[in-house]
Amino acid sequence: MSEKHSTLKLIQNGLSKHPESVLKAINLSVWINDSLILNDINLYVKRNRINCIIGPSGAGKSTLIRSFNRINDETDGLRAKGSIRFNGSDIYDKDVDTSWLRSRIGMVFQKPAVFPVSIKANVLMGIRHHRKLTRLEELQVSEKNLKAVSLWAEVSHRLDDKASSLSAGQQQRLCIARTLAVEPRVILLDEPTSALDPVSSKSIEDLLIRMKQNYTILFVTHNIPQARRIADELIFMCDGKIIEAGPKKQLFNHPRKEATKKYLGEDICDC
Ligand SMILES: Nc1ncnc2c1ncn2[C@@H]1O[C@H](COP(=O)(O)OP(=O)(O)OP(=O)(O)O)[C@@H](O)[C@H]1O
Ligand SMILES: [Mg+2]
Repeated sequence: MSEKHSTLKLIQNGLSKHPESVLKAINLSVWINDSLILNDINLYVKRNRINCIIGPSGAGKSTLIRSFNRINDETDGLRAKGSIRFNGSDIYDKDVDTSWLRSRIGMVFQKPAVFPVSIKANVLMGIRHHRKLTRLEELQVSEKNLKAVSLWAEVSHRLDDKASSLSAGQQQRLCIARTLAVEPRVILLDEPTSALDPVSSKSIEDLLIRMKQNYTILFVTHNIPQARRIADELIFMCDGKIIEAGPKKQLFNHPRKEATKKYLGEDICDC
């Protein structure tokens, strides 16, 4: 595709060249077993913002977010074209170490994925892959990151208990603490609150709003009121394409596309 055509596409998607973007998908298409799942995606993920992807089931939200730290590499039959740039470098370059990439671009999944070990060992699980810690450092890293997710007061007296003994909401905050312990720049979250009760969901939302000062957040949700509460930037996807992207207020108050208006109005979109 010519550069002129690519730029036109970016403008059509409501995106311009943002110097503050940390991650960019450029003309990204993904096929799984010859089915086109992502169709020429151009997306700028903005630094220190909650960038929120919404759209109907099967739109390709998870496939897109999983492309950003190459977790998709594990999917059989998947093929990608185009590029993803992280601070200017292509993450698909041959010399990119995926373990390093995932330490810079962490991921939190829909269901809290705790390991069958202690609370403390869960916090340290990722960072231990990257460096050896003394016992004192282990305690310091655990305390710092459990405090960051507001879990310290609840678990400081039981760090050696099994992580599975925590509630689902506490487990999800523990997963976020584990991700933070590796000191990523970007955090990808794929519907992290959909398995949680409203109180636990609210505490994760509050946490993300605090975290954006230090991290860039790319967040998938099905929940339109949640997107309204926490998003800074909104990306509306349907049928493998970005239909519209821009500041949240713009998409909610002045959508340019009829499909966006319908979807955000909680109607069935026909895109
Ligand atoms: N491993 C796979 N093999 C075959 N098809 C897949 C695979 N993973 C995803 N797909 C297909 O890709 C399309 C997009 O799926 P994806 O999970 O990215 O959608 P989504 O927007 O995250 O949906 P949901 O909101 O239900 O989570 C769907 O049609 C899905 O069936
Ligand atoms: Mg999904």
